[in-house]
Amino acid sequence: MTVHLGRRYGFPAAHRLYSHLLDEEQNRALFGKCANPYGHGHNYEFELDLRGPVDPVTGRAADLPALDAMVEREILSVFRHTNLNDLPPFRETVPTTENLAVEVLKLLKKAWPAEPALGQVVLEKVRIWETERNICELSA
Ligand code: NI
Repeated sequence: MTVHLGRRYGFPAAHRLYSHLLDEEQNRALFGKCANPYGHGHNYEFELDLRGPVDPVTGRAADLPALDAMVEREILSVFRHTNLNDLPPFRETVPTTENLAVEVLKLLKKAWPAEPALGQVVLEKVRIWETERNICELSA
């Protein structure tokens, strides 16, 4: 029996919406107060959608402690309490929820095959909340 699981995580981080391809005035016109040079913070949340067979011995479809350790190492410790604009992926791209979701998915897909404890668990989607109203979802 294959089941679908969700696992949710969160991290606080700051960002400034600012495109290096635009000048100050264009950035202000496009992003408004989100282009403020001092930035602002969010309590980001993200959810992973997983799919896998239920193990007949453990009754589980995923080794959640192993998943949590991988997510801590690959995602949370990278982004927690940072200014996203200072991180290499966002030096040239705007740290929007869309670009953050792309980066999180990229990091997870890279790390996934090296985690034998995840066995037959497949990553299906990543969904990130910047705020209650601003959500981005990507299929793996
Ligand atoms: Ni923001």
